[in-house]
Amino acid sequence: MNTVPVRPSVAFGICLKKIEGNALVEAVKVGLLGLGTVGGGTVNVLKRNAEEISRRAGRGIQVTHAAARDLNKPRICDTDGITLTTDPMSVVNDPDIQIVIELIGGDGLAKDLVMAAIEQGKHVVTANKALIAKHGNEIFAAAQKKNVMVAFEAAVAGGIPIIKAIREGLAGNKIQWLAGIINGTGNFILTEMRDKGRDFDDVLKEAQELGYAEADPTFDVEGIDAAHKLTILASIAFGIPLQFDAAYTEGITKITREDVNYAEELGYRIKHLGVSRCTEKGVELRVHPTLIPERRLLANVDGVMNAVLVNGDAVGPTLYYGAGAGDEPTASAVVADLVDMVRVLTSDPENRVPHLAFQPDALSDIPILPMAEVTTAYYLRMQADDRPGVLADVTRILGDAGISIEAIIQKEPLPDSDNANIIMLTHRVEEQQMDKAIASIEALPAIHNKLTRIRVESLDAD
Ligand code: NDP
Ligand code: HSE
Repeated sequence: MNTVPVRPSVAFGICLKKIEGNALVEAVKVGLLGLGTVGGGTVNVLKRNAEEISRRAGRGIQVTHAAARDLNKPRICDTDGITLTTDPMSVVNDPDIQIVIELIGGDGLAKDLVMAAIEQGKHVVTANKALIAKHGNEIFAAAQKKNVMVAFEAAVAGGIPIIKAIREGLAGNKIQWLAGIINGTGNFILTEMRDKGRDFDDVLKEAQELGYAEADPTFDVEGIDAAHKLTILASIAFGIPLQFDAAYTEGITKITREDVNYAEELGYRIKHLGVSRCTEKGVELRVHPTLIPERRLLANVDGVMNAVLVNGDAVGPTLYYGAGAGDEPTASAVVADLVDMVRVLTSDPENRVPHLAFQPDALSDIPILPMAEVTTAYYLRMQADDRPGVLADVTRILGDAGISIEAIIQKEPLPDSDNANIIMLTHRVEEQQMDKAIASIEALPAIHNKLTRIRVESLDAD
């Protein structure tokens, strides 16, 4: 274990702040776990904006200790004045540290560190959506017992203050549904593939180099990261416990350029959406590629940008847009949490904003709706023999299942194939009805592949 002693400099300039008369208030001492993309960005923002931040918080904020795995690695930030160590638990245990920022990621070591910080009565800021989505119920219960705060604005949609907007700004509403592009890497890949015809793997590599992707990028492309974030959003929107295991998750790896093009011909864009809706039967919690009308603002959110559309009964639809990943956009959210925390350090714990927006004893037990019972419209694509009667067979199966068709396009066989591509848009139907119809269509001898099925959302304000 290595520890580099702190150099005698005043980290970030503002250690003591003069308030009311001559009293000097010491800066709040913060321990930073992780000095990678977000950790480095956080140090840079705290340093560059130290004056503004202390004017807002009422006290200086000083990172005095930080942990990383490799102390010789070049950093994006200047670590002068910070005691560095490879032992993150020593930072948590340091008696001078009042707030711990967890930016290591994952839910193993990170969970141990966060729980240890809480146990010692320290407040925690984290950007770790996996940790909150999977263990948030336990973490918040522990925090509640110890009267400490755990803030996680950066865990959802990078720099967009969506947690604060839903938890506080929309507190007067019954939230009906929300839908968002909440993974920057996935949106970056889809945009580059569509606009520049680039290959999936090549764009993913660039997203990793830019620091957008998760340590395991399958979390981004398979929708797991978006499902972590959606779990958190649904919880604060509807007042339900975090239930990541009940989320339906489908990634973007099977989207083809053909589907992107056909969707555009039909007036739609394919986006990787997280959708959560409160219905009478339960809460929908689903992440999947989705066709959305190209005129919707969400359809035009490109690159690493994220956006979340929230529909409240009083306010109607509201849209939140901004950078969903990257060092300083994410640091912006981490630092906002720090400022909030410093402002209320001494306030009565009973009067703080509850972690999950609703009072802990007022959470609802409304179930998460199984995907089979979710109702949406669909885009279907199938490869079929190009001969009379095939289309009639397909439409009969759909008709028998009570599924009505909104549009059909039949494309000539591609030069190297005898099969025609049939593309359909259907009206809304329960998923289990569609599953049965798809199985029957795939069983037709004239159909040559698994059907491509992409859900369609109109995102109307109802
Ligand atoms: P990085 O991989 O860039 O940084 C992780 C940091 O943790 C590194 O500094 C690493 O050290 C350190 N670390 C890892 N293991 C240990 C250990 N055992 N002991 C001490 N230090 C350790 O990740 P990010 O900054 O990208 O992500 C951090 C968190 O923020 C994750 O939870 C992520 O999901 C979340 N997040 C990331 C966003 C982004 O845009 N990147 C946006 C929003 C949230 P070393 O550098 O020496 O390897
Ligand atoms: N990997 C995540 C993304 C980081 O691309 O959205 C931000 O949470």
